[in-house]
Amino acid sequence: MFKKLAISAVAALTLSTGVAVAAGGEGHIEDVDFSFEGPFGTFDQNQLQRGLQVYTEVCSACHGMQYVPLRTLADDGGPSLPEDQMRAYAAQFEVFDPELDDFRAAKPTDHFPGSNLENAPDLSLMAKARAGFHGPVGTGLNQLFKGMGGPEYIVSILTSYTGETKTQAGVTLYENTAFPGGWIAMAPPLYGEDVEYADGHSNSMHHEAEDVAAFLMWAAEPKMMARKQAGLTGVIFLTVLTVLLYLTNKRIWAPIKGKRTS
Ligand code: HEC
Repeated sequence: MFKKLAISAVAALTLSTGVAVAAGGEGHIEDVDFSFEGPFGTFDQNQLQRGLQVYTEVCSACHGMQYVPLRTLADDGGPSLPEDQMRAYAAQFEVFDPELDDFRAAKPTDHFPGSNLENAPDLSLMAKARAGFHGPVGTGLNQLFKGMGGPEYIVSILTSYTGETKTQAGVTLYENTAFPGGWIAMAPPLYGEDVEYADGHSNSMHHEAEDVAAFLMWAAEPKMMARKQAGLTGVIFLTVLTVLLYLTNKRIWAPIKGKRTS
């Protein structure tokens, strides 16, 4: 019975995958092994700092991150900029202060600026917004087994331009095999060697894309490491509790069970 059920389930999955591929709906997303995947995964501080650099020097020309407070750049588990560097980073932005009725340099308590370009979406939560459900027919299996999600989507978007363009209603669209629908209004932002990394890390297009995707994952979920740790503590606690309850149960029933068997 179970075997039959399993076979029909597999058949149904393969069949419907075939349909989804034939329909060509979703773009192609490649898997990337990020340091923060898995139950013990943590953000790579150096990678986040490189990603911040790519974001600042390239993406922020159009995109914003208005929900991310600048002071969090100094937080443990994040890019962990030294306090003075974080303050200097914040001070390069100008924000409008309603109390002064004038612009002033941003303070650590201010947020990143919003998008400069009207149709460029805010990137604060993009890595979670596009986590999607990858895998056959959106089952989420790839997310479960390979840890594929928003960061993979972002890497794929940044590296899947074909070079083809077309103009539609006065807007230039760029062909991109990762973008649903295949045509995106964002010009290819990365070509490789767009930034010069201080730590000498490779600045190929793919590395830059991975770094900025990791950074955007941190921006969208800065407390990921704390969440995983809490989860792990919970699992350990429940395991210990299970063992204790099992042993207690044995002990409580020992006299009665013992009588019956003797
Ligand atoms: C020249 C301006 C410009 C730059 C620079 C730019 N973008 Fe974009 N980006 C856009 C626009 C416009 C869109 C909206 C595209 C659309 O909806 O077709 C967009 C959309 C996106 C999306 C959302 C795609 C989706 O699923 O809706 C992501 C993710 C993204 N950009 C990431 C980045 C990253 C990361 C960088 C820096 C490496 C970057 N962008 C640099 C203009 C830009």
